Amino acid sequence: MAKEVKNVEYGLEKIFEGAQDFLPLNGTDYVEFYVGNAKQAAHFYKTAFGFQSYAYAGLETGLKDRVSYVLKQDKIRLVLTTALTSDSPIGEHVKKHGDGVKIVALWVDDARKSYEETTKRGAKSFMEPTVEKDEHGEVVRAGIYTYGETVHMFVERKNYKGDFLPGYQKWESDYNPSSVGLKFIDHMVGNVGWGEMNIWVKWYEDVMGFVNFLTFDDKQITTEYSALMSKVMSNGNGRIKFPINEPAEGKKKSQIEEYLDFYEGPGVQHIAVATDDIIKTVGELRSRGVEFLPPPPQAYYDEIPTRLGAHRDMMKEDIKELQKLSILVDADEEGYLLQIFTKPVEDRPTLFFEIIQRMGAKGFGAGNFKALFESIEREQAKRGTL
Ligand code: FE2
Repeated sequence: MAKEVKNVEYGLEKIFEGAQDFLPLNGTDYVEFYVGNAKQAAHFYKTAFGFQSYAYAGLETGLKDRVSYVLKQDKIRLVLTTALTSDSPIGEHVKKHGDGVKIVALWVDDARKSYEETTKRGAKSFMEPTVEKDEHGEVVRAGIYTYGETVHMFVERKNYKGDFLPGYQKWESDYNPSSVGLKFIDHMVGNVGWGEMNIWVKWYEDVMGFVNFLTFDDKQITTEYSALMSKVMSNGNGRIKFPINEPAEGKKKSQIEEYLDFYEGPGVQHIAVATDDIIKTVGELRSRGVEFLPPPPQAYYDEIPTRLGAHRDMMKEDIKELQKLSILVDADEEGYLLQIFTKPVEDRPTLFFEIIQRMGAKGFGAGNFKALFESIEREQAKRGTL
């Protein structure tokens, strides 16, 4: 596992020893979902999650085969795309996987070089470097496949002054629900098949120059019924973090197997979005109809002061308030974090969201894994998939 070089705020400097410099990444550019009905999905993300209308492409902008709605909240950009014809690969994707994440786009200074460096290290091409232009300048994009049918798109926008991408028009709407305080994508997790975690860990190391900086084995992530393993991959500056999960043997079916069955293959399991006021954000999301996993038992909240240890006095939030909203708390050496997980946001039990507030802690809530997975198992039991 990689050693963290120094304790700094995530910035452009290299913080992970062992990470390689051939693929400098500035951050997440956008996340594109292929969905069955982008117009209605966009309404859901605006109403329930507080995203704002941002850009649009479709028949009105000259597209014939698909429509895309782009939503924004602070630094987060979601693109929702639906096919307009039956022979579209977008429609095929939705038919196989249901609604889900197709593209995790990464902001780079040089898309051609990113494509060249990764494909020469073994990445499978999704899209060769392509220049798109309009009156605001040009964007270069190039894409490679990662696990399953998921894609990393490199986006170079240093010569572009427009809002999103050439080909999109501004999307003005009279319906503008307010933000719920989501700021940026903290991490995105992928589920891969049995025995495949280390293959993808090596792929992120070799092809993307990432490092493995945290590992959780099946002894750490286990309940009475099921288990999983997880390794967290990061790029050199720590801005991009991709934990990779695989199922492990247990008495019953794990949530990862349930995901793989319903998504019909590997894919993005959850998107963790950061807020700096989780109580306000979660209160707002709940009032707008977002459903979260049920709360852990009372004993979980009774143990919070012990779990916080040295950071006990640092915590400003009221435990009763956190419990009322079912927010979870974990701590590591550097601080604590608050987090909560939604139920799946589409009909298949696949993709869900995490809301996270970091108060110094850089972990992923390992202390919550047991409580969290027991909550998920109670939901699985209702679905008959445990
Ligand atoms: Fe997470």
